Amino acid sequence: MQALEVSGVTKTFGERRAVDGVSLAVNQGEILGLLGPNGSGKSTLMKIIVGILKPDAGAIQVLGNDATKDPTAVKRIVGFVPESPRLYEFLSGIEYLDFVADVHGLVPSAKHERISHFLKALDLEGRENELINGYSQGMKQKLAIIAGLLHRPQLLVMDEPLNSLDPRSARIVKDLIHKLRDDGVATIFSTHVLEIADAICDRIVIMDAGRVVEQGSTGDLKAKAGTPGSTLEEVFLKLTGTSDTREIVEALSH
Ligand SMILES: Nc1ncnc2c1ncn2[C@@H]1O[C@H](COP(=O)(O)OP(=O)(O)O)[C@@H](O)[C@H]1O
Ligand SMILES: [Mg+2]
Repeated sequence: MQALEVSGVTKTFGERRAVDGVSLAVNQGEILGLLGPNGSGKSTLMKIIVGILKPDAGAIQVLGNDATKDPTAVKRIVGFVPESPRLYEFLSGIEYLDFVADVHGLVPSAKHERISHFLKALDLEGRENELINGYSQGMKQKLAIIAGLLHRPQLLVMDEPLNSLDPRSARIVKDLIHKLRDDGVATIFSTHVLEIADAICDRIVIMDAGRVVEQGSTGDLKAKAGTPGSTLEEVFLKLTGTSDTREIVEALSH
């Protein structure tokens, strides 16, 4: 059984088709990178996968559960880390995590152990009693990552999770995703940073203008681009129709 199966998902906002007939699958214990330029539909697709947005057409299955027919079952097994997490700024970090753990019905003893384990792992230990309001962007991001993991999800959906993290924290999160993979957890995460996708993912799906334009391992993609030794960046720019960047840069520099 696949961890995630997306079939023919479409979403339109007014005149704009943000997601246009996307189909993809993620195996259990696989890390899939969703790569695409700004506005290519990554966040919209992720919100549909976790049930925040309803698709106009198409279906989502998470470990065999239909997301539209059984959203509660799906929410139990999915962890979501949004792009710009909206946290309760006037709670302390620990109050927020306590609250999230309660929503998921974690028993108190397990809850405290799990929360302190994550606080330590992500270098937030000692800061948990401060108000979220005073946290840096990176600290808020780490808090959102912990909140998304507390209930031991089988599918992790992370929207640009490394964006505001310093290299050390980014490394910790990357190792964490790999560790979860070893436990069979599937991850789908978006990024517009090629090096991140290359370094973390087992497989990459490239989106452009709401559609999947290519998928495969980074090796496959480089081979498909036809030029041996070409970088993932060249492949990406070619596929997303932005290969003529020299002209743009020239225009900007005048
Ligand atoms: N709530 C919304 N209302 C109207 N347009 C939206 C909304 N959310 C996203 N869009 C549009 O859908 C397209 C895809 O956006 P998004 O999924 O955020 O892309 P990405 O995450 O790849 O940058 C963009 O053109 C964006 O402006
Ligand atoms: Mg986005």
